Amino acid sequence: QRIYDIAVIAGDGIGKEVMPEGIRVLEASARRHGFTLRQKWHDFAHCDYYARRGRMMPENWKEEIGKPAAIFFGAVGWPDIVPDHISLWGSLLQFRREYDQYVNLRPVKLMEGVPCPLAGRKPGDIDFWVIRENTEGEYSAIGGRMFEGTEREMVMQETVMTRKGVDRILKFAFDLARTRPRKLVTSATKSNGIAITMPYWDERVAEMASSYPDVSWNKFHIDILTANFVLKPQIFDVVVGSNLFGDILSDLGPACAGTIGIAPSGNINPEGEHPSLFEPVHGSAPDIAGQNLANPIGQIWSAAMMLDHLGEKQAAADIMRAIEMVLKEPSLRTRDLGGSADTQTCGKAIAVLLS
Ligand code: NAD
Ligand code: IPM
Ligand code: MN
Repeated sequence: QRIYDIAVIAGDGIGKEVMPEGIRVLEASARRHGFTLRQKWHDFAHCDYYARRGRMMPENWKEEIGKPAAIFFGAVGWPDIVPDHISLWGSLLQFRREYDQYVNLRPVKLMEGVPCPLAGRKPGDIDFWVIRENTEGEYSAIGGRMFEGTEREMVMQETVMTRKGVDRILKFAFDLARTRPRKLVTSATKSNGIAITMPYWDERVAEMASSYPDVSWNKFHIDILTANFVLKPQIFDVVVGSNLFGDILSDLGPACAGTIGIAPSGNINPEGEHPSLFEPVHGSAPDIAGQNLANPIGQIWSAAMMLDHLGEKQAAADIMRAIEMVLKEPSLRTRDLGGSADTQTCGKAIAVLLS
């Protein structure tokens, strides 16, 4: 019998609304495919916890989480209660770093039925992966404030790129490209202006590419790369970037493909020494939270990525088929897709297709 222990963390805002839909679909999928998910829900890593305890997670959070097969995560952040850098560095960014989830895997795909904001694009024109470095780069804890309150007040924050850290994300991207028909890696850089770390990144890309003669590659500075996401999204296959560039590209890509509400992600520790974490790309969306308006598909697609990661390939593929069917049905689309279905209606429709 296949049994998987899953740590479940819903978080804040719409995280608490889309998580039950992700779980609904996982449970339907487990029944259909004959595996068991043992869920352990954790009541921390959200801003109400912070309001009560003055921290985002208990000191022994690693013990509490234990050794699950994967972590299923919603979204964290409620800036009215806790400044975002405190809530996120106290939760999600801890997981990524402490569990060495150095790959952030973010598919971008224009799905049938989803209105595309780019003129004349159809499904098939936008279908690529953003591979984001997830543990170092611009997201560093090195730096500080000095001379506070004086005229000399200043802040600085270092970007950190290690050879190991850069090479392993590039290797992942080239390996992924090798499995795809077009076999193309695009690197996001800014070596014209960021003249120490980014030329280093470029050097490592060239070096890595030399061991993949069967994979083609190119690079763009991040400014024109963002323009090309909008103007020529069909030219991309696997796009690899540093932590910050990957973050930006992985909201822009899904927006070009219609909505960030369906975009999923996997925070992967490829060696499997630590659990990987699956979550939608979007945040807690305070502007629509509590209204049952959120699109649950980002969470549900993340569930499919999690099952794929756990080896339940058929179950993952079935969820994707169900998502595709629901997206084609106007009455089941949420508001971000121009429809009027609520979160639960959309989630239930996907679950029903699996039962
Ligand atoms: P956001 O992704 O929460 O929202 C951006 C916009 O997209 C909002 O207008 C929102 O309503 C809309 N949106 C997002 N998800 C949607 C969905 N599923 N369905 C329909 N519409 C959706 O980004 P933000 O406003 O920059 O951040 C809000 C909070 O979330 C902040 O605290 C931020 O730090 C946090 N955040 C957390 C994560 C995470 O936990 N992984 C990711 C991004 C932002
Ligand atoms: C994401 C989010 C996070 C990030 C924030 C909430 C810290 O935007 O997962 O894309 O920047 O990595
Ligand atoms: Mn982001």
